[in-house]
Amino acid sequence: MTRWDGTPVLTTERLVLRTFRLDDLSHYAALNAQPEVFRYLGGEPMRRQDSDDIAAWANDVYARERMGLLAVERRSDGRFLGMCGLHHQSSMPDDVEVAWRLAFEHWGNGYATEAATAWLDYGFGELELPEVISMTDADNDRSLAVMRRLGMRFNREQQIEDEGLRRRDLRDHRRRMARPPRELAHAAVSPSRRPRSISSPRRRSSIRS
Ligand SMILES: CC(C)(COP(=O)(O)OP(=O)(O)OC[C@H]1O[C@@H](n2cnc3c(N)ncnc32)[C@H](O)[C@@H]1OP(=O)(O)O)[C@@H](O)C(=O)NCCC(=O)NCCS
Repeated sequence: MTRWDGTPVLTTERLVLRTFRLDDLSHYAALNAQPEVFRYLGGEPMRRQDSDDIAAWANDVYARERMGLLAVERRSDGRFLGMCGLHHQSSMPDDVEVAWRLAFEHWGNGYATEAATAWLDYGFGELELPEVISMTDADNDRSLAVMRRLGMRFNREQQIEDEGLRRRDLRDHRRRMARPPRELAHAAVSPSRRPRSISSPRRRSSIRS
């Protein structure tokens, strides 16, 4: 049974990173249907049910694994901005990926980098991960820029079969898997190469539960 209690996991200067609440779902569905957002995420607007399923999946992953692609909330006004977090990438289940997605109107404020920095800190610290990867389409310049700001280094390009967004709906899953493979850029970061903002003793994030 999915819990929708908005458990705070990390805080940063401007953000709370937490599990989804039911009142996030309409906002999440709205951003998942924004053309600027879905351009690199399957190329078509996501249906409301699929968006809700992904949020439920994220909360379930957090309950099981203490990680997940969770909600990003702005502390100053409680606005839901999007999602960011860590998960086992479906095409590379042995790896943990850091991923991000914000509503278009919140791009250009440094929120994705701030949230991802906190999740990396948590991944290398609390979860003791040896490495965190990130993947994106080779021409997703904004996502590549976030990777660079995080100190990630280019690892390789490869074609993978990517269902785009992890679904619990098997019918959709198969449909998306049938899409032609996409060119993806694959970046990786290891603790020894963590940027100063992550390894600094003045931690920008703190565990709240
Ligand atoms: C990828 C995505 C999350 C990047 O968002 P973003 O806002 O560009 O990234 P950041 O949070 O790092 O913000 C950086 C920008 O904020 C600016 N900025 C403004 N105030 C800032 C502050 N206080 N601190 C840091 N940066 C700030 C930076 O200068 C930079 O601006 P620029 O875009 O003009 O270079 C966003 O484009 C998105 O959601 N895309 C759709 C989903 C997607 O493709 N996800 C990835 C799939 S693999």
